[in-house]
Amino acid sequence: MSSQPLNLPQRPRRLRRTETLRKMVRETTLSVDDLIYPMFVMEGEEEKVEIASMPGCYRYSLDLLLEEIAEVSRLGINAVALFPVIPENQKDDTGTESYNPEGLIQETVKAIKKAVPEILIITDVALDPFTTHGHDGLVDENGKILNDQTLEVLVKMALSQAEAGTDFVAPSDMMDGRIGAIRTALDAEGYINVGILAYSAKYASAYYGPFRDALDSAPKFGDKKTYQMDAANAKEALKEIELDIAEGADIIMVKPALAYLDIICQVKAATNLPVAAYDVSGEYAMIKAAAQYGWIDEKKVILETLTSMKRAGADLILTYFAKEVALMLM
Ligand code: PBG
Repeated sequence: MSSQPLNLPQRPRRLRRTETLRKMVRETTLSVDDLIYPMFVMEGEEEKVEIASMPGCYRYSLDLLLEEIAEVSRLGINAVALFPVIPENQKDDTGTESYNPEGLIQETVKAIKKAVPEILIITDVALDPFTTHGHDGLVDENGKILNDQTLEVLVKMALSQAEAGTDFVAPSDMMDGRIGAIRTALDAEGYINVGILAYSAKYASAYYGPFRDALDSAPKFGDKKTYQMDAANAKEALKEIELDIAEGADIIMVKPALAYLDIICQVKAATNLPVAAYDVSGEYAMIKAAAQYGWIDEKKVILETLTSMKRAGADLILTYFAKEVALMLM
């Protein structure tokens, strides 16, 4: 710290005098390159259904999704994170549809690679969209999550996504050991260039509510607290990222983002890997709702919120605002 003689007045406002000056000394900038757009795909044709608790976000049938992704790519967004809406009659106890080589996600990846080859694809690895019980893992007759048996299914799922042509698999299930199991299997099958974006510090959060509406994937019993992290813990986040890095993660993620800026900051300081933050559905819904009431200036709040995530240390942000922000930054 430099010290000034006390008789000279300190005038930090000097650097805030004009917009040009403020731009010149700005420490953090938000760019379209930082954004990853999460999108929902469903079966059918010519269908686009708005998610009630996420105004401005839709479930798209594949044909319309492809048009939307072409538009998203034109706006300069580099990557999409895909989530499938699985019909009830394709769900079962063990999530077998998750590794169907002709499943919704697999077919979607193949179609995007043909239609919009320049966009990067990130596919979610977790069982919750595919299980009747809505949990991310296999469950025994007493409702206990079966960690190691789940890994076998997650590996099949990741391999089927790699086979379809995904760029990154993103395990969001929080089972112990899944990054290592998936990396080992991908390498063994020759998918050395398929990356892993690990949901490393994923908290058991009430902010996921609107997303579970979107996929109709809320757990039918219990909660996710035996696998997702306790909101009160920070050191545990550092332990989780250390393990995921050792097991072969390429990018690590903190989720949710807004209520966990301190975690993003600590994680960033603890690793040289790129850090992603997931600005989740509930964070999106809160801003949209307040804006609909006219209580906040939506655009300014969106930019301020996403800038805070970058300032905290996020290199990448998964956000449902991605398309709107890309337009704002043009
Ligand atoms: C599924 C998954 C969830 C989200 C991303 N992947 C929900 C959950 O864990 O229950 C939430 C994303 C959001 O709220 O935007 N494993």
